[in-house]
Amino acid sequence: MKKNILKTLLLAVLLPTASVAQSDDASSISKTIDFATKQVGLETAAIQKAKKPLNPVTLNKKGEVSYCSPYDWRSGFFPGTLWYLYELTGDEQWAKQAEYMTTSIESAKTLTSHHDVGFIINCSFGNGLRLKNAKGYKDVMVQAAKSLATRFRPGAGVIQSWNVNNPNSWQAKRGWECPVIIDNMMNLELMFKATQLSGDSTYYRIAVSHADQTLKNQFRPDGSCYHVVDYALRDGAVRHKQTAQGYADESAWARGQAWALYGYTMMARETGDDAYLQQAKHIALFLMNHPRMPEDKVPYWDFDTPDIPNTTRDASAAAIMASALIELSQIDQSSEAAGYLAYAEDQLRSLSSPEYLAEAGTNCNFVLKHSTGYFKAGSEVDVPLSYADYYYVEALMRLKKIIEE
Ligand code: GLY
Repeated sequence: MKKNILKTLLLAVLLPTASVAQSDDASSISKTIDFATKQVGLETAAIQKAKKPLNPVTLNKKGEVSYCSPYDWRSGFFPGTLWYLYELTGDEQWAKQAEYMTTSIESAKTLTSHHDVGFIINCSFGNGLRLKNAKGYKDVMVQAAKSLATRFRPGAGVIQSWNVNNPNSWQAKRGWECPVIIDNMMNLELMFKATQLSGDSTYYRIAVSHADQTLKNQFRPDGSCYHVVDYALRDGAVRHKQTAQGYADESAWARGQAWALYGYTMMARETGDDAYLQQAKHIALFLMNHPRMPEDKVPYWDFDTPDIPNTTRDASAAAIMASALIELSQIDQSSEAAGYLAYAEDQLRSLSSPEYLAEAGTNCNFVLKHSTGYFKAGSEVDVPLSYADYYYVEALMRLKKIIEE
Protein backbone atom coordinates (compact mmCIF):
# COMPACT_ATOMS: atom_id res chain seq x y z
CA MET A 1 0.00 0.00 0.00
CA LYS A 2 2.70 2.47 1.09
CA LYS A 3 4.76 1.56 -1.95
CA ASN A 4 1.86 2.29 -4.31
CA ILE A 5 1.25 5.71 -2.80
CA LEU A 6 4.94 6.53 -3.06
CA LYS A 7 5.02 5.35 -6.64
CA THR A 8 2.01 7.45 -7.60
CA LEU A 9 3.71 10.47 -6.09
CA LEU A 10 6.85 9.61 -7.95
CA LEU A 11 5.06 9.91 -11.28
CA ALA A 12 4.34 13.53 -10.48
CA VAL A 13 7.99 14.54 -10.20
CA LEU A 14 8.83 13.27 -13.58
CA LEU A 15 6.13 15.15 -15.42
CA PRO A 16 6.73 18.04 -17.74
CA THR A 17 7.93 21.08 -15.84
CA ALA A 18 11.50 19.89 -16.08
CA SER A 19 13.60 20.52 -19.16
CA VAL A 20 14.89 17.02 -19.40
CA ALA A 21 11.85 15.28 -17.98
CA GLN A 22 9.26 15.21 -20.75
CA SER A 23 6.62 12.60 -21.02
CA ASP A 24 6.28 9.86 -18.46
CA ASP A 25 7.98 8.58 -15.37
CA ALA A 26 10.56 6.04 -16.47
CA SER A 27 11.41 7.69 -19.77
CA SER A 28 11.79 11.10 -18.12
CA ILE A 29 14.15 9.90 -15.45
CA SER A 30 16.08 7.99 -18.12
CA LYS A 31 16.50 11.18 -20.13
CA THR A 32 17.88 13.01 -17.11
CA ILE A 33 20.26 10.14 -16.41
CA ASP A 34 21.26 9.98 -20.10
CA PHE A 35 22.12 13.66 -19.94
CA ALA A 36 24.26 13.18 -16.80
CA THR A 37 25.96 10.23 -18.46
CA LYS A 38 26.84 12.23 -21.57
CA GLN A 39 27.99 15.25 -19.60
CA VAL A 40 30.24 13.24 -17.26
CA GLY A 41 31.41 11.28 -20.32
CA LEU A 42 32.89 14.50 -21.71
CA GLU A 43 34.94 14.80 -18.53
CA THR A 44 36.16 11.20 -18.60
CA ALA A 45 37.18 11.73 -22.25
CA ALA A 46 39.23 14.75 -21.13
CA ILE A 47 40.84 12.63 -18.40
CA GLN A 48 41.72 9.90 -20.88
CA LYS A 49 43.24 12.49 -23.18
CA ALA A 50 45.31 13.91 -20.33
CA LYS A 51 46.51 10.36 -19.48
CA LYS A 52 46.36 11.14 -15.79
CA PRO A 53 43.63 10.78 -13.15
CA LEU A 54 42.51 14.40 -12.94
CA ASN A 55 39.87 14.65 -10.22
CA PRO A 56 37.48 17.54 -10.99
CA VAL A 57 35.88 19.37 -8.05
CA THR A 58 34.77 22.84 -9.11
CA LEU A 59 35.81 25.91 -11.12
CA ASN A 60 38.56 28.34 -10.21
CA LYS A 61 38.20 32.12 -10.33
CA LYS A 62 39.12 32.09 -14.03
CA GLY A 63 36.24 29.72 -14.72
CA GLU A 64 38.53 26.75 -15.39
CA VAL A 65 38.12 23.29 -13.86
CA SER A 66 40.02 22.84 -10.66
CA TYR A 67 41.23 19.38 -9.69
CA CYS A 68 42.00 17.98 -6.26
CA SER A 69 44.54 15.69 -4.66
CA PRO A 70 43.57 12.34 -3.09
CA TYR A 71 43.75 13.95 0.37
CA ASP A 72 41.19 16.64 -0.35
CA TRP A 73 37.81 15.98 1.31
CA ARG A 74 36.14 16.04 -2.13
CA SER A 75 38.34 13.45 -3.85
CA GLY A 76 35.84 10.58 -3.53
CA PHE A 77 32.92 12.29 -5.23
CA PHE A 78 33.96 12.11 -8.88
CA PRO A 79 34.98 8.41 -8.62
CA GLY A 80 31.71 7.80 -6.74
CA THR A 81 29.67 9.48 -9.49
CA LEU A 82 31.35 7.18 -12.02
CA TRP A 83 30.32 4.16 -9.92
CA TYR A 84 26.72 5.40 -9.85
CA LEU A 85 26.78 5.81 -13.63
CA TYR A 86 28.00 2.24 -13.89
CA GLU A 87 25.18 1.14 -11.61
CA LEU A 88 22.64 3.11 -13.66
CA THR A 89 23.81 1.99 -17.09
CA GLY A 90 25.41 -1.41 -16.49
CA ASP A 91 28.06 -0.32 -19.00
CA GLU A 92 31.47 -1.81 -18.13
CA GLN A 93 33.20 1.26 -19.59
CA TRP A 94 31.96 3.21 -16.58
CA ALA A 95 33.29 0.56 -14.21
CA LYS A 96 36.68 0.83 -15.89
CA GLN A 97 36.73 4.61 -15.50
CA ALA A 98 35.48 4.33 -11.93
CA GLU A 99 38.19 1.82 -11.02
CA TYR A 100 40.87 4.03 -12.56
CA MET A 101 39.77 7.10 -10.59
CA THR A 102 39.13 5.10 -7.41
CA THR A 103 42.57 3.48 -7.45
CA SER A 104 44.12 6.90 -7.96
CA ILE A 105 43.01 8.02 -4.49
CA GLU A 106 43.89 4.84 -2.56
CA SER A 107 46.70 6.59 -0.67
CA ALA A 108 44.03 8.55 1.24
CA LYS A 109 43.23 5.38 3.23
CA THR A 110 45.97 6.25 5.73
CA LEU A 111 44.85 9.85 6.15
CA THR A 112 44.66 10.74 9.83
CA SER A 113 45.11 14.51 9.74
CA HIS A 114 41.39 15.29 9.32
CA HIS A 115 38.09 13.46 9.55
CA ASP A 116 37.18 13.39 5.87
CA VAL A 117 38.72 10.00 5.16
CA GLY A 118 35.17 8.63 5.57
CA PHE A 119 33.75 10.81 2.80
CA ILE A 120 36.73 10.09 0.54
CA ILE A 121 36.92 6.33 0.84
CA ASN A 122 33.28 5.42 1.31
CA CYS A 123 32.01 7.34 -1.74
CA SER A 124 34.69 5.80 -3.97
CA PHE A 125 35.85 2.42 -2.65
CA GLY A 126 32.58 1.85 -0.76
CA ASN A 127 30.50 2.10 -3.93
CA GLY A 128 33.10 0.12 -5.87
CA LEU A 129 33.04 -2.67 -3.30
CA ARG A 130 29.24 -2.78 -3.34
CA LEU A 131 29.09 -3.01 -7.14
CA LYS A 132 32.18 -4.97 -8.13
CA ASN A 133 33.81 -6.46 -5.07
CA ALA A 134 37.09 -5.47 -6.70
CA LYS A 135 40.25 -6.97 -5.27
CA GLY A 136 41.71 -5.09 -2.35
CA TYR A 137 38.77 -2.69 -1.86
CA LYS A 138 37.69 -4.36 1.36
CA ASP A 139 41.16 -3.86 2.88
CA VAL A 140 41.15 -0.22 1.81
CA MET A 141 37.79 0.32 3.54
CA VAL A 142 38.95 -1.26 6.79
CA GLN A 143 42.27 0.61 6.71
CA ALA A 144 40.39 3.89 6.18
CA ALA A 145 38.13 3.16 9.15
CA LYS A 146 41.25 2.45 11.24
CA SER A 147 42.61 5.83 10.20
CA LEU A 148 39.35 7.56 11.13
CA ALA A 149 39.27 5.72 14.45
CA THR A 150 42.60 7.34 15.40
CA ARG A 151 40.64 10.59 15.66
CA PHE A 152 38.17 9.20 18.20
CA ARG A 153 38.55 10.98 21.54
CA PRO A 154 37.21 8.65 24.25
CA GLY A 155 36.92 11.40 26.89
CA ALA A 156 34.58 13.38 24.65
CA GLY A 157 33.02 10.40 22.85
CA VAL A 158 33.49 11.99 19.42
CA ILE A 159 35.67 11.85 16.32
CA GLN A 160 37.61 15.09 16.21
CA SER A 161 37.04 16.88 12.89
CA TRP A 162 39.97 19.26 12.64
CA ASN A 163 43.40 19.42 14.24
CA VAL A 164 44.27 22.32 16.50
CA ASN A 165 47.89 21.45 17.35
CA ASN A 166 49.39 24.00 14.98
CA PRO A 167 49.00 27.33 16.81
CA ASN A 168 49.06 29.15 13.46
CA SER A 169 46.10 27.25 12.03
CA TRP A 170 42.81 29.13 11.83
CA GLN A 171 41.15 26.39 13.90
CA ALA A 172 43.65 26.82 16.75
CA LYS A 173 43.19 30.57 16.57
CA ARG A 174 39.49 30.07 17.30
CA GLY A 175 40.56 28.61 20.66
CA TRP A 176 39.08 25.17 19.99
CA GLU A 177 40.21 22.01 21.78
CA CYS A 178 38.25 19.27 20.00
CA PRO A 179 36.12 20.76 17.21
CA VAL A 180 33.42 18.63 15.64
CA ILE A 181 31.54 19.84 12.58
CA ILE A 182 28.13 18.53 11.58
CA ASP A 183 29.60 17.34 8.26
CA ASN A 184 31.38 14.66 10.30
CA MET A 185 28.13 12.67 10.48
CA MET A 186 28.80 11.75 6.85
CA ASN A 187 32.03 9.95 7.77
CA LEU A 188 30.21 7.45 9.98
CA GLU A 189 28.85 5.27 7.17
CA LEU A 190 32.40 4.03 6.58
CA MET A 191 32.54 2.84 10.20
CA PHE A 192 29.40 0.69 9.84
CA LYS A 193 30.74 -0.86 6.66
CA ALA A 194 34.11 -1.54 8.30
CA THR A 195 32.41 -3.45 11.11
CA GLN A 196 30.45 -5.50 8.58
CA LEU A 197 33.63 -6.22 6.61
CA SER A 198 35.99 -6.93 9.50
CA GLY A 199 33.70 -8.23 12.25
CA ASP A 200 35.29 -5.68 14.59
CA SER A 201 32.51 -3.83 16.42
CA THR A 202 34.86 -1.03 17.52
CA TYR A 203 33.98 1.00 14.42
CA TYR A 204 30.24 0.58 14.99
CA ARG A 205 30.58 1.70 18.61
CA ILE A 206 32.60 4.76 17.66
CA ALA A 207 29.95 5.77 15.10
CA VAL A 208 27.13 5.38 17.63
CA SER A 209 29.00 7.32 20.31
CA HIS A 210 29.73 10.17 17.90
CA ALA A 211 26.14 10.30 16.63
CA ASP A 212 24.77 10.27 20.21
CA GLN A 213 27.01 13.12 21.32
CA THR A 214 26.15 15.09 18.21
CA LEU A 215 22.44 14.52 18.73
CA LYS A 216 22.74 15.70 22.31
CA ASN A 217 24.92 18.76 21.74
CA GLN A 218 24.80 20.02 18.16
CA PHE A 219 21.07 20.69 17.67
CA ARG A 220 18.74 23.49 18.64
CA PRO A 221 15.19 22.83 19.82
CA ASP A 222 13.80 23.70 16.36
CA GLY A 223 15.78 20.86 14.71
CA SER A 224 18.45 23.08 13.13
CA CYS A 225 22.10 22.54 13.99
CA TYR A 226 25.25 24.43 14.78
CA HIS A 227 28.08 23.97 12.34
CA VAL A 228 30.80 23.50 14.98
CA VAL A 229 30.70 22.15 18.53
CA ASP A 230 33.96 22.28 20.47
CA TYR A 231 34.37 19.69 23.24
CA ALA A 232 36.71 19.42 26.22
CA LEU A 233 38.91 16.42 25.53
CA ARG A 234 38.96 15.37 29.17
CA ASP A 235 35.24 14.97 29.83
CA GLY A 236 33.28 16.01 26.74
CA ALA A 237 32.00 19.25 28.24
CA VAL A 238 30.79 21.57 25.49
CA ARG A 239 33.14 24.56 25.24
CA HIS A 240 31.72 26.40 22.21
CA LYS A 241 28.85 26.22 19.74
CA GLN A 242 29.85 28.20 16.67
CA THR A 243 30.14 28.29 12.91
CA ALA A 244 32.89 28.19 10.35
CA GLN A 245 31.14 28.22 6.98
CA GLY A 246 27.76 29.62 8.04
CA TYR A 247 26.62 33.23 8.20
CA ALA A 248 26.72 33.37 12.03
CA ASP A 249 27.07 31.10 15.04
CA GLU A 250 23.30 31.06 15.51
CA SER A 251 22.41 30.73 11.82
CA ALA A 252 21.40 27.64 9.88
CA TRP A 253 24.06 27.02 7.22
CA ALA A 254 22.14 25.23 4.48
CA ARG A 255 24.58 22.46 3.62
CA GLY A 256 25.19 21.74 7.28
CA GLN A 257 21.47 21.10 7.76
CA ALA A 258 21.53 18.79 4.72
CA TRP A 259 24.51 16.84 6.11
CA ALA A 260 22.63 16.44 9.40
CA LEU A 261 19.51 15.14 7.65
CA TYR A 262 21.51 12.69 5.55
CA GLY A 263 23.63 11.62 8.53
CA TYR A 264 20.75 10.76 10.86
CA THR A 265 18.80 9.05 8.06
CA MET A 266 21.88 6.88 7.47
CA MET A 267 22.13 6.23 11.23
CA ALA A 268 18.49 5.07 11.27
CA ARG A 269 19.19 2.73 8.34
CA GLU A 270 22.35 1.25 9.86
CA THR A 271 21.16 0.79 13.46
CA GLY A 272 17.36 0.61 13.28
CA ASP A 273 17.34 2.94 16.32
CA ASP A 274 14.14 4.99 16.46
CA ALA A 275 15.92 7.93 18.17
CA TYR A 276 17.92 8.52 14.98
CA LEU A 277 14.82 8.23 12.80
CA GLN A 278 13.00 10.79 14.95
CA GLN A 279 16.01 13.10 14.74
CA ALA A 280 16.07 12.82 10.94
CA LYS A 281 12.36 13.64 10.85
CA HIS A 282 12.85 16.63 13.11
CA ILE A 283 15.57 18.00 10.81
CA ALA A 284 13.40 17.29 7.76
CA LEU A 285 10.54 19.28 9.24
CA PHE A 286 12.80 22.22 10.04
CA LEU A 287 13.98 22.32 6.44
CA MET A 288 10.70 21.59 4.68
CA ASN A 289 8.73 24.17 6.70
CA HIS A 290 11.37 26.86 6.71
CA PRO A 291 9.82 30.22 5.75
CA ARG A 292 12.97 31.20 3.88
CA MET A 293 13.11 28.04 1.78
CA PRO A 294 12.55 29.37 -1.76
CA GLU A 295 9.58 28.23 -3.81
CA ASP A 296 11.76 25.95 -5.94
CA LYS A 297 13.08 24.32 -2.73
CA VAL A 298 16.74 24.97 -3.53
CA PRO A 299 18.02 26.82 -0.45
CA TYR A 300 20.13 29.91 -0.26
CA TRP A 301 23.56 29.10 1.18
CA ASP A 302 22.41 30.03 4.69
CA PHE A 303 18.81 30.32 5.88
CA ASP A 304 19.66 33.34 8.03
CA THR A 305 21.78 35.52 5.83
CA PRO A 306 20.17 38.97 5.70
CA ASP A 307 21.06 39.13 1.99
CA ILE A 308 18.23 36.78 1.01
CA PRO A 309 16.97 36.99 -1.76
CA ASN A 310 20.01 38.80 -3.18
CA THR A 311 22.52 36.05 -2.53
CA THR A 312 23.47 32.68 -3.96
CA ARG A 313 21.70 29.35 -3.81
CA ASP A 314 23.36 26.11 -2.87
CA ALA A 315 22.27 23.39 -5.28
CA SER A 316 24.53 20.95 -3.43
CA ALA A 317 22.42 21.36 -0.28
CA ALA A 318 19.26 20.63 -2.28
CA ALA A 319 20.82 17.53 -3.88
CA ILE A 320 22.02 16.14 -0.52
CA MET A 321 18.64 16.90 1.03
CA ALA A 322 16.69 15.26 -1.82
CA SER A 323 18.76 12.10 -1.64
CA ALA A 324 18.32 11.92 2.14
CA LEU A 325 14.56 12.56 1.95
CA ILE A 326 14.11 9.77 -0.58
CA GLU A 327 15.87 7.37 1.77
CA LEU A 328 13.89 8.71 4.74
CA SER A 329 10.64 8.05 2.84
CA GLN A 330 11.66 4.41 2.54
CA ILE A 331 12.66 3.96 6.18
CA ASP A 332 9.86 5.86 7.89
CA GLN A 333 6.71 3.78 8.31
CA SER A 334 4.47 6.73 9.24
CA SER A 335 2.01 8.67 7.10
CA GLU A 336 4.67 11.40 6.77
CA ALA A 337 6.83 9.27 4.48
CA ALA A 338 4.94 10.27 1.34
CA GLY A 339 5.55 13.94 2.14
CA TYR A 340 9.31 13.39 2.29
CA LEU A 341 9.28 11.78 -1.11
CA ALA A 342 7.05 14.46 -2.62
CA TYR A 343 9.38 17.18 -1.32
CA ALA A 344 12.45 15.44 -2.75
CA GLU A 345 10.63 15.10 -6.06
CA ASP A 346 10.02 18.85 -6.12
CA GLN A 347 13.70 19.47 -5.44
CA LEU A 348 14.77 17.12 -8.21
CA ARG A 349 12.29 18.75 -10.57
CA SER A 350 13.93 22.12 -9.85
CA LEU A 351 17.45 20.75 -10.16
CA SER A 352 16.50 19.12 -13.47
CA SER A 353 15.21 22.40 -14.88
CA PRO A 354 17.31 24.70 -17.10
CA GLU A 355 17.89 26.96 -14.10
CA TYR A 356 20.16 24.39 -12.42
CA LEU A 357 20.92 21.67 -14.96
CA ALA A 358 23.74 22.54 -17.34
CA GLU A 359 23.35 22.59 -21.09
CA ALA A 360 25.22 19.71 -22.71
CA GLY A 361 28.89 20.52 -23.19
CA THR A 362 28.83 23.65 -20.98
CA ASN A 363 29.54 24.17 -17.25
CA CYS A 364 32.99 22.59 -17.73
CA ASN A 365 31.24 19.21 -17.91
CA PHE A 366 29.72 19.41 -14.44
CA VAL A 367 26.05 18.43 -14.29
CA LEU A 368 24.58 21.05 -11.93
CA LYS A 369 25.08 24.80 -11.73
CA HIS A 370 24.60 27.21 -8.81
CA SER A 371 26.22 25.68 -5.74
CA THR A 372 28.01 27.56 -2.99
CA GLY A 373 31.06 26.10 -1.26
CA TYR A 374 32.27 28.71 1.23
CA PHE A 375 30.45 32.02 0.78
CA LYS A 376 32.10 34.00 3.57
CA ALA A 377 35.57 33.20 2.28
CA GLY A 378 34.51 34.19 -1.24
CA SER A 379 35.43 30.69 -2.30
CA GLU A 380 33.34 28.58 -4.68
CA VAL A 381 30.41 30.97 -4.87
CA ASP A 382 27.73 30.15 -7.45
CA VAL A 383 29.72 27.41 -9.14
CA PRO A 384 29.37 23.72 -9.96
CA LEU A 385 30.64 21.35 -7.28
CA SER A 386 31.51 17.65 -7.62
CA TYR A 387 29.48 16.74 -4.55
CA ALA A 388 26.36 18.46 -5.88
CA ASP A 389 26.63 16.17 -8.92
CA TYR A 390 27.33 13.10 -6.77
CA TYR A 391 24.26 13.49 -4.55
CA TYR A 392 22.07 14.54 -7.49
CA VAL A 393 22.95 11.36 -9.40
CA GLU A 394 22.53 9.34 -6.19
CA ALA A 395 19.06 10.85 -5.68
CA LEU A 396 18.06 10.06 -9.28
CA MET A 397 19.24 6.52 -8.77
CA ARG A 398 17.30 6.16 -5.53
CA LEU A 399 14.15 7.35 -7.33
CA LYS A 400 14.76 5.01 -10.23
CA LYS A 401 15.02 2.09 -7.82
CA ILE A 402 11.67 2.98 -6.29
CA ILE A 403 10.05 3.07 -9.75
CA GLU A 404 11.52 -0.29 -10.66
CA GLU A 405 10.60 -2.08 -7.43
N1 GLY B 1 32.41 19.36 4.35
C1 GLY B 1 32.69 20.62 3.89
C2 GLY B 1 31.54 21.32 3.25
O1 GLY B 1 30.42 20.85 3.26
O2 GLY B 1 31.80 22.39 2.69
